[in-house]
Amino acid sequence: MMDMIGQSKKELRNYVLALRKSLNPEKVQADSRKIFDRLCSMEEFYTSRIIMSYVSFGNEVNTLHFIERCLSMGKRICVPLITTSSDGKKSMIASEIFSMEDDLAPGTMGILEPAEGKVRELEPGLIDLVIVPGIVFSIDRYRIGYGGGYYDRFLPLLRKDCLKAGVAFELQIRDRVPVESHDFPVDVVITEDRII
Ligand SMILES: Nc1ncnc2c1ncn2[C@@H]1O[C@H](COP(=O)(O)OP(=O)(O)O)[C@@H](O)[C@H]1O
Ligand SMILES: [Mg+2]
Repeated sequence: MMDMIGQSKKELRNYVLALRKSLNPEKVQADSRKIFDRLCSMEEFYTSRIIMSYVSFGNEVNTLHFIERCLSMGKRICVPLITTSSDGKKSMIASEIFSMEDDLAPGTMGILEPAEGKVRELEPGLIDLVIVPGIVFSIDRYRIGYGGGYYDRFLPLLRKDCLKAGVAFELQIRDRVPVESHDFPVDVVITEDRII
């Protein structure tokens, strides 16, 4: 696939979103499995006690089986939640779940998130591994998200030795993406074919 030079974030976002939307569900499931098999064989996964993972929807890399796997291994799991503070500013926090069934419910746009009464905020400094979603990643590990900048503001709150791992399908990888001063890169990007 030809890389389109000089595209804005918005153009790249829309272009790659459409590409990802065209993947068939079997391919999404098979490649998601490969991605998490690769991640779970990394030493950083083995040694992580507290893991944060987004809860996937649509054709995002599927994290649902991964989260179940972590819970069944006895790891502590937290998921992102967008909250509005008293000054009206929205930000992302990590909220611990003990069970996917009991603690998650469809929220905004039908995406699973911590249910009412099940919000248990966890201090970012406690997290050992974060699974970072993205629409586009570059080989120098910068990312384009949905445009809210939530991860750009959350990732700097983590410990330096917390592994920030982007997960994506190969069709989401570009040589370069537009980078602004507030953009925060991840430490590693894992696809169905390689670790970047
Ligand atoms: N550290 C930050 N401090 C203040 N605002 C930020 C920060 N990081 C991101 N933002 C805001 O979030 C908006 C979206 O960021 P952008 O990088 O385009 O989105 P995304 O990373 O989701 O693709 C930016 O316009 C920027 O103003
Ligand atoms: Mg950004």
